[in-house]
Amino acid sequence: MNQIVLGILYWYQKNLRNLPWRSTNDPFKIWLSEVILQQTQVVQGTVYYEKFIENFSNIKQLANAEEEQILKLWQGLGYYSRARNLHKAAQHIINNFNGVFPNNYKDLLKLPGVGDYTASAIASFAYNLPHPTLDGNVYRFIARLYNINLPIDEPRNKSVFINILMELMEGQEPRQFNNAMMEMGAIICKPQNPQCNICPVADYCEALKNNTVENLPVKSKKVKVQIRHLNYFFIEYNNGFYLEKRMGSGIWQNLFQLPLIETLSEGTKEILLSQINLILNNKSTMDIHFEKDMRHILTHQRLEVKFWKIQLNIEPEFTNKKMVHTNLSEYKNYAVPKLIENYLLLL
Ligand code: ADE
Repeated sequence: MNQIVLGILYWYQKNLRNLPWRSTNDPFKIWLSEVILQQTQVVQGTVYYEKFIENFSNIKQLANAEEEQILKLWQGLGYYSRARNLHKAAQHIINNFNGVFPNNYKDLLKLPGVGDYTASAIASFAYNLPHPTLDGNVYRFIARLYNINLPIDEPRNKSVFINILMELMEGQEPRQFNNAMMEMGAIICKPQNPQCNICPVADYCEALKNNTVENLPVKSKKVKVQIRHLNYFFIEYNNGFYLEKRMGSGIWQNLFQLPLIETLSEGTKEILLSQINLILNNKSTMDIHFEKDMRHILTHQRLEVKFWKIQLNIEPEFTNKKMVHTNLSEYKNYAVPKLIENYLLLL
């Protein structure tokens, strides 16, 4: 056997973490774990995974759930389109695959939210099919092992990595091989402070030989970040406040939020008073008070957020009718973005 593969598999058998999705071949559970792990680290991911499995033990239960329940369970992970795609994919399996989870790469790719990586993960972990799981960890490990300085964020370079993995995987158990490669990237060949001194394949590592470990992998693009100015309103009335259901598209679609005015530049009291009719049909005079600001960083956006308070004695009339009146103990029943929850927790 190839000495590199031998070293990695032997190391994996001795060092593998006992993770809940590793002790099952159920494609439903594996899919769920992979979608969650695209959003968070293993420790936190395990908590969410257990929570989801407790609520939905099979595809039918997930397909029949209310989207709001799924969003609520997903709360805190961010990137809510992944949660909505879980729901859509479950319904797709019920409607187009007779409720049976697809058992091959091509059909797996047809599921909403399932791309190359997730299809490969399900195909290999559930069905032991030879599809390499090339995630960020594996990209880094292979880039270093073979001293490859091609940018990993350029799609045309992907085949270089896939071909190496296919060759290494030849004659191995795909399930075991992929798990071992991912574990090497996560535990030994880490982005910072890689553990080269205990790496089972250090003798074969071209980056270590060439002193380039810290420079790899290479990325070509800088992510372009859009700056947005969000002003949320805590509108107090009758011992409670209001949440609106967020419509349209975007990251927080169908979640509940405080009424919002987005401004092109930083929101000031004057600007907001002139635009308050965007959310409130209020004929009486009122005042708005600045309460708190927060910054929230997403992959492609930087949110500059301000929270404002309005106190009303008469029941407000909203321009958007999808409002619910709630209070500080009851709002927890609604799925709200983490950033809003963080603010409400301070009150
Ligand atoms: N990260 C993504 N998928 C994973 C898996 N199956 N095991 C451990 N970490 C992961």
